[in-house]
Amino acid sequence: MNISVIGTGYVGLVVGACLAETGNYVVCADVDHKKIEGLRHNQLPIYEPGLLPLVERNQQQSRLTFTDDVTAAISSASVIFIAVGTPPDEDGSADLRHVLAVADQIGRHMTRELVVVTKSTVPVGTAAKVAAAVARHARHPFHLCSNPEFLKEGAAVDDFLKPDRVVLGVDTDHARSVMAELYAPFVRTGKPIIFMDIPSAEMTKYAANAMLATRISFMNEIAALCEKVGANVDHVRKGIGSDPRIGASFLFPGAGYGGSCFPKDVKALVRTAADCETSLEVLQAVEDVNERQKHRLFEKLSVALEGKLRGVQIAVWGLAFKPQTDDMREAPALTLIEGLLDAGAHVCAHDPVAIHEAKRRLGDRVRFVESYYDAVEGADALIIVTDWNEYRHPDFARIKQALRRPVLIDGRNLYDPVKMAEMGFVYDSVGRPMKRLVSRPAATLVA
Ligand SMILES: NC(=O)c1ccc[n+]([C@@H]2O[C@H](COP(=O)([O-])OP(=O)(O)OC[C@H]3O[C@@H](n4cnc5c(N)ncnc54)[C@H](O)[C@@H]3O)[C@@H](O)[C@H]2O)c1
Repeated sequence: MNISVIGTGYVGLVVGACLAETGNYVVCADVDHKKIEGLRHNQLPIYEPGLLPLVERNQQQSRLTFTDDVTAAISSASVIFIAVGTPPDEDGSADLRHVLAVADQIGRHMTRELVVVTKSTVPVGTAAKVAAAVARHARHPFHLCSNPEFLKEGAAVDDFLKPDRVVLGVDTDHARSVMAELYAPFVRTGKPIIFMDIPSAEMTKYAANAMLATRISFMNEIAALCEKVGANVDHVRKGIGSDPRIGASFLFPGAGYGGSCFPKDVKALVRTAADCETSLEVLQAVEDVNERQKHRLFEKLSVALEGKLRGVQIAVWGLAFKPQTDDMREAPALTLIEGLLDAGAHVCAHDPVAIHEAKRRLGDRVRFVESYYDAVEGADALIIVTDWNEYRHPDFARIKQALRRPVLIDGRNLYDPVKMAEMGFVYDSVGRPMKRLVSRPAATLVA
């Protein structure tokens, strides 16, 4: 099939490369000329494991091309994916400007019967607006499909090639059969393609992200209560996660959720409800809890350093909103670092892949280092924000020797509180009792 993908960000690039991998001819278009120029030379604008070989191979075999001429991309395709950004507007609603601008261009420049697929996350009712925008200038028939994307940054290629399910909202048999054919190679192991009406497909994406965000905020609240009552959230998490009705995923407490999706999608769904003169009270609370959680690591550090943050030096490990990505949109590390800088602390930070992005956002107000051990050299405390694998088994003796004070705040519960206390760290994590080593009468651990 001849496919065009408009918008070559995290989603568009992965979708385009994966569809080319199954033999389609794919044109990826974007208004960002620099991005397109880089992609033509196999330079990816994002860090995403497994994506580069796909882009290289399919470009080399001429199945995947990149262009900044959106009009040309539209005129050559029989299936067009809209994968542009839908950032939050000032009132929290999804800003549909880019989606509708592309729809308008599709209407003006289509050269044949088309299936127009919305990949961007858009509120219920957007397909009708897309249809109206295309129809204004269309000279050929077109069909709509709402195809929400469930990929996870950091595992996006795998998620697209081996999806748990594909959700397709369609309005005609033609759209249904074209999309079924397109996705057939990805569901050969029997994973379902779930067809539904378009509004339900649009809603499914928001409901999925809202549910996942709810689990995170719920566990963050349970973790805070565990701290108060002396329970250990790790045990609680395992205790509830083994119930198949609950399941073990997305039950890890931490520094609060971030990224390009959960924060904006929760806000947009709350906004949709308000527009319908109803309220989503659970989701409003989910958002409030998350905002509070993003400040928890700062508060814990403040307690550990007895409120004296002016002039101290703090090492931060992990900047991306989660491991395996360089995405820092709404990252909890940004909230923490801004708080530290406001309080007069100096920050030295490490991340395996997100330093270039962090520099763009924080400039020279933070010192960035290539080695995570360099970050702790002479620091008054270490805070871990992102659970990159390389932080899981560090050389604790080296860290303790490098730190001016052995204070370690672990926002991802990577280490054992008992062992950390035995090694002499003042160690705090999320939802687990702190242990202290008392030296008299005998060296013993107390809660
Ligand atoms: N990032 C994720 O993990 C993820 C997952 C599922 C769904 N989504 C949704 O997919 C959509 C895209 O997300 P993203 O993270 O890829 O965004 P992104 O910001 O990384 O990329 C969007 C791209 O669209 C381009 N663009 C904007 N207007 C354009 C236009 N008129 N013509 C051509 N290109 C244009 C931008 O230059 C940019 O490169 C959003 O609606 C998002 O909510 C994202």
